[in-house]
Amino acid sequence: MYGKEQNFRGYKVVVGVSGGIAAYKTVDLVSLLTKRGAEVHVVMTKAAREFIGPVTFEAISGNKVHLDVFDSPPGWHFPHLELARIADAVVIAPATAHFIGRAACGMADDLLGTMLLACQNLVFVCPAMNVAMYKHPAVQANINKLREFGYTVVEPDYGRLACGDTGPGRLAENDRIIKELENQLLFNQDLNDYTILVTAGATREPIDPVRFISNRSSGKMGFAIARAARKRGARVILVSGVLHPKPPEGVNLIEVESAQEMYDEVLKHYECVDVVIKAAAVGDYMPENVASQKIKKNGNALTLELKRNPDILLELGKRKQHQLLVGFAAETQDVEKNAKEKIFKKNLDLMVANDVTVPGAGFGTDTNVVKLIFAGGEANQLPMMTKEDLSNIILDNIRMLKKCK
Ligand code: PMT
Repeated sequence: MYGKEQNFRGYKVVVGVSGGIAAYKTVDLVSLLTKRGAEVHVVMTKAAREFIGPVTFEAISGNKVHLDVFDSPPGWHFPHLELARIADAVVIAPATAHFIGRAACGMADDLLGTMLLACQNLVFVCPAMNVAMYKHPAVQANINKLREFGYTVVEPDYGRLACGDTGPGRLAENDRIIKELENQLLFNQDLNDYTILVTAGATREPIDPVRFISNRSSGKMGFAIARAARKRGARVILVSGVLHPKPPEGVNLIEVESAQEMYDEVLKHYECVDVVIKAAAVGDYMPENVASQKIKKNGNALTLELKRNPDILLELGKRKQHQLLVGFAAETQDVEKNAKEKIFKKNLDLMVANDVTVPGAGFGTDTNVVKLIFAGGEANQLPMMTKEDLSNIILDNIRMLKKCK
């Protein structure tokens, strides 16, 4: 699926380049991050463009380089906020004395400075400058200020500088910057021993070549779980109905259409997985007969005869060995009672029950409101939260249950 050398797969790194001679080394940094699977977005200051052209970074990263607060890529209203939001980490390399000073003062006078203020994730600052400049009390005070903000300062290397002086001031070797990123970004890889199969989205049951029966699932819940599990180091198999949201990076995505296809794929992988999380909304019925040609309307009512689809989770429950089984229950009434019946019938370890009539819960939303119900009968009502946060809570509970098994 992917090896250790691809350990940044699924991560988005924003690389900020300010105007120093060491900017040429950042090309290699971007290349290394990309090779390791990271999605890299480069932001350049005006001064950086005096040393190196954006086209070089575009070719290496495969993404358009961001230069200006007012230059929005399609679909992005505020590039500084979008970049800050998507970045799992921001790496400023090289960080010049001028940029460090601006960042320490919280100046928002260009895209990189503005984006940094909006960023709530990891920030790595890699200073590079003349040795006297680096040692100047003003620069040191500014660097300390950045540390107080919680940024990681990757100290420059000692050696001969471009100006001919020798001392600290050389941009840290890329291996050291990457090691620092690994230490912090991949720190919480508590699921790296697990293979997790997640199902997401809606199945489609064909009526004829142009029509189908489906439901309102957008896939957001399943995708959020797959993304969170991958970030925590799990190998993820994502069996998904036909969907439009961007699939998580670094997962083994298998697209299916009907419940029968989902059944076949899930059963195929069942033996080699540790956990199955069934967030998909699977069609319970399919047409008895699928027309080979488009059904013509003739003025009369049309009656469709439906037959039961296989219940995937029920089958997994019957065949359960070492696997941990997590179901979702989409309910509109008697949530806990119905969910408990399903836990028992399908031999589950955990049921995530959502009352899909509650605003902010269930289909299509970015949030969910659920009750976690365990096989032993304990129930834990959670407040409304993003599907991303909920995914991590579900994964925390899975880890705990796995340890107790
Ligand atoms: O995709 P989103 O828009 O983000 O919406 C998320 C969601 C509402 C789809 C999700 O939170 C959810 O509740 N998913 C389960 C929906 C559902 O099918 O519930 P159910 O109560 O009908 O089924 C119970 C469990 O059995 C589910 O885990 C389901 O995947 C599984 N099942 C159901 C029928 C079937 N034939 N095979 C199954 O495996």
